[in-house]
Amino acid sequence: MSTIVSPSLLAADFMNLGRDSEMLNNSEADWFHIDIMDGMFVPNISYGFSVLKPLSKVAKKPLDVHLMIEKPERYIEEFYKAGASILTVHYEASIHLHRTIQQIKSLGMKAGVALNPHTPVSILDDIIQDLDLVLLMSVNPGYGGQSFIEHAVEKTKKLRKMIDDRQLNTIIEIDGGVNFETGKKLVDAGANALVAGSFVFNAKEPKEAIRGLKQL
Ligand code: DX5
Ligand code: ZN
Repeated sequence: MSTIVSPSLLAADFMNLGRDSEMLNNSEADWFHIDIMDGMFVPNISYGFSVLKPLSKVAKKPLDVHLMIEKPERYIEEFYKAGASILTVHYEASIHLHRTIQQIKSLGMKAGVALNPHTPVSILDDIIQDLDLVLLMSVNPGYGGQSFIEHAVEKTKKLRKMIDDRQLNTIIEIDGGVNFETGKKLVDAGANALVAGSFVFNAKEPKEAIRGLKQL
């Protein structure tokens, strides 16, 4: 199966979000990656429901929503209503993670957990069986355009082993600093899904960049 590609709209031109969404609709991208930042869990603030709702009407592909917010359990239903198909919360941000995951699933969304660069994959030992997706951060969350943290490749291998040993189908998604070079290492290490922001939207031919990532 080819790699799932989820371009991050954080790197899109916000004055031309309609145009950039159409580009993704007409590309080989699988999902729309939506980064929600609250200025607390991460130092940056991105966008919220007033952007997400109209975007969900235009997007012809599932919305892959990455919550970089504290206590994400407060907003699960609202993100469902705003059109999220995949909802990923940070391990570091939700104390009652098991309950949060069950809430996401009970609404029919796919449930994901994201790990910051310093959080070991072994911490997922007692929750991995309940997850549809694990998102490994390969930069510190908060900003697009940062450089890739190489250790993410080792983490991907460990997570791949954990998932395969248990015969699970959990998707491994990697987020941050992804390009053809880092993406290839990640796919070889066992990643199924790649998020790419600046690499896609700063490319001369974004659709070709997406196509290239899919073929890694
Ligand atoms: C970072 C976000 C990423 C970001 C990736 O906090 O989670 O999704 O948009 O951007 P690039 O691909 O430019 O590193
Ligand atoms: Zn993200």
